[in-house]
Amino acid sequence: MTTGIAIRRYDHRHAAELRPLLLEVYAEVYADAAMSDPFAGVDRFARGLDGWSARPGWTCVVGYDGDQAVGYAYGAPLAADAPWWGGLLSDVDPAITAETGSRTYALSELMVRTPWRKTGAAKQLHDALLEGRPEERATLLVDQGHPKVHALYESWGWQTLGNLRPRIKDAPLFHAMLLPLC
Ligand SMILES: CC(C)(COP(=O)(O)OP(=O)(O)OC[C@H]1O[C@@H](n2cnc3c(N)ncnc32)[C@H](O)[C@@H]1OP(=O)(O)O)[C@@H](O)C(=O)NCCC(=O)NCCS
Repeated sequence: MTTGIAIRRYDHRHAAELRPLLLEVYAEVYADAAMSDPFAGVDRFARGLDGWSARPGWTCVVGYDGDQAVGYAYGAPLAADAPWWGGLLSDVDPAITAETGSRTYALSELMVRTPWRKTGAAKQLHDALLEGRPEERATLLVDQGHPKVHALYESWGWQTLGNLRPRIKDAPLFHAMLLPLC
């Protein structure tokens, strides 16, 4: 079943206007996690959001059920010198992680408020964010402590590349994943 949520699309020019909504939804979705995990705190997320949304290539989709925001997804293309792969711990052919600035779209965040879980809204946001992207592939990081989310992404066609721990304070161990586009 899909919810038939309405998708609104944004880019870096809307970052300031969107920021309060994105932080409000994050704080709600990650409220439990933030109680025990410093990496899930709103302040750290806000710094990350500001960094991502300042990039000219940043894109964001927000899902609406009537006038209620149900969740969102955002990301941006990786720059040629992006630090994204810097924390990779697995032995991977360097050709796979070579970036050109136009090769890879990084899906940085995907979250849906609880009442709209298991309705298809998350997949709808995911697909809307990646629809029509010119890059050859997308990448994301999923926390290895969340095996069900990892399995969900696999069910959506994502492939696991290896282990990655970003060089950020308190960062957990992630699965780095890739999805071929087009
Ligand atoms: C990830 C998400 C968008 C998927 O939404 P969905 O397609 O409707 O799928 P569900 O919410 O049913 O999640 C699938 C399973 O993963 C589990 N899961 C989801 N997020 C989780 C998290 N942050 N930590 C641990 N488990 C999680 C769910 O409990 C569910 O397990 P279940 O089938 O036993 O009930 C949504 O669960 C969400 O917003 N989660 C919190 C934010 C998050 O973790 N985003 C992903 C970052 S990589």
